[in-house]
Amino acid sequence: MKVLITGANKGIGLEMAKMYAEAGNEVIGCARNPDAATKLKALPGVRVEQLDVGSSDSVAALKARLGDEAIDVLINNAGIAGPAPDKQSALDMDYDGWMETFNINSMGPLRMVQAFRANLAKGTNPKAITVTSQMGALDLNWPVMYAYCSSKAAVNKVMRMISVELAKDGIAVRLLHPGHVKTDMGGPNAAITVDESAGGIIKVIADTNLENTGTFMKWNGEAHAW
Ligand SMILES: NC(=O)c1ccc[n+]([C@@H]2O[C@H](COP(=O)([O-])OP(=O)(O)OC[C@H]3O[C@@H](n4cnc5c(N)ncnc54)[C@H](OP(=O)(O)O)[C@@H]3O)[C@@H](O)[C@H]2O)c1
Repeated sequence: MKVLITGANKGIGLEMAKMYAEAGNEVIGCARNPDAATKLKALPGVRVEQLDVGSSDSVAALKARLGDEAIDVLINNAGIAGPAPDKQSALDMDYDGWMETFNINSMGPLRMVQAFRANLAKGTNPKAITVTSQMGALDLNWPVMYAYCSSKAAVNKVMRMISVELAKDGIAVRLLHPGHVKTDMGGPNAAITVDESAGGIIKVIADTNLENTGTFMKWNGEAHAW
């Protein structure tokens, strides 16, 4: 199986790259700055590619390098938390930072799906997965991190819509909340480790198909409320 992972140089993305490669899969691990991606580059069986999901030119350049090679699983994992919490609140908003958060978290995954749709269509049981967050669920009413939460709510809607379109090409689409994970983004006091999260996500991806396409799941296999 060939798996392409965005934001694979650290955190949940790096752990998924490691686990997929150890299981004998071909992994294309993408990093904004491959020169600094020492842990990713050290993984046997991982091909490292430069990619900034916030740049249409960068996505097009990756597409040009990969050509029409088949991809079985695309994992839109790259994401940012956005401006400092007190700069994305009801009281104060960094609007440029909010736009950048949308650009990376909401538009990045669509850029990738559009660019690699034909590659996925050539894959075996192809899947386009997006690592979203519980913070994007309308059901969860925590009034924090306005930019981040709205960017994840937006990507949820975009991926749910595109699941209908991609089913015509045999591509299953799913949204995954990875848990509150001990990474640079989740912080040291988060609830679960990267291997618990990545291991769970990989199982949910294995169980993703055209019957359950368009659903929003948690890393542990439970359905997530929208
Ligand atoms: N950790 C949690 O508790 C938690 C909870 C819910 C959802 N999530 C989601 O899980 C995903 C992974 O997060 P994480 O916790 O592993 O965070 P992380 O350790 O901060 O890693 C984020 C990854 O995304 C990459 N990235 C950021 N902007 C990018 C861009 N424009 N182009 C390409 N790559 C970019 C980063 O690359 P650089 O090193 O170059 O910045 C890094 O590889 C994110 O989508 C996040 O929103 C995390």
